[in-house]
Amino acid sequence: MQNDEKRIAGEAAVELVRDGMTLGLGTGSTVAFFLKALGEKVRLGMKVRGVPTSERTAHLCHQLGIELLDFASVDRLDLNVDGADEVDHDFRMIKGGGGALLREKLVALASRRNVIIADSSKAVERLGAFPLPVEIVRFGHHQIKRRIEEMGVRSTLRITGDVPYITDNGHYILDCQTGPIPDPAALEARLKSVTGVVDTGLFLCHCHTLIIGKGDEAIRRNKQD
Ligand code: A5P
Repeated sequence: MQNDEKRIAGEAAVELVRDGMTLGLGTGSTVAFFLKALGEKVRLGMKVRGVPTSERTAHLCHQLGIELLDFASVDRLDLNVDGADEVDHDFRMIKGGGGALLREKLVALASRRNVIIADSSKAVERLGAFPLPVEIVRFGHHQIKRRIEEMGVRSTLRITGDVPYITDNGHYILDCQTGPIPDPAALEARLKSVTGVVDTGLFLCHCHTLIIGKGDEAIRRNKQD
């Protein structure tokens, strides 16, 4: 069911892509459905170029024949399509469950329009049940974790197998157990004030259009609705 909703949201987002566009290409299982549908359009002749937000997405694009673009060669992207781990009524999000938050935020900031696709389980009343990913530098990571804990936020260093997970940018991730976040902007500012924090998975003004797959429908809302 969840996978069907992801597919429905991903396929609905493809309808927003126009020939000739430059795209931001997010990361995750929902985006994979979008890319698959986009790859099909490309196969039928649509011309688009995209900046991938992770090595994983770049690899998938190669497989699907979607042309990639060097991020350094573009000022603005026409459209960015990405997933989310949680999204609230004000389109504020937690992202980074897949570890790609830093590139995702950079690409979102460079995009004229950000479209977020998700299954219905991602829509929440209040952010914070999903552990908030925070990307940190490796040097002194114990100290950084302690500083964050002194602010009252418990965290776990993300591990894959037996070793710390390393992002595409060569950093570590702390998954923070914040619990319900009453003021996401204040938390974002506090976390970003800690030396060694590169960025957080709080995306507070990075969504213009939200497409939620719910049952067999894609429900689309624009920020101003
Ligand atoms: C990747 O780092 C994340 O921000 C993803 O966009 C998010 O985790 C959503 O992933 P799924 O589409 O796999 O649920």
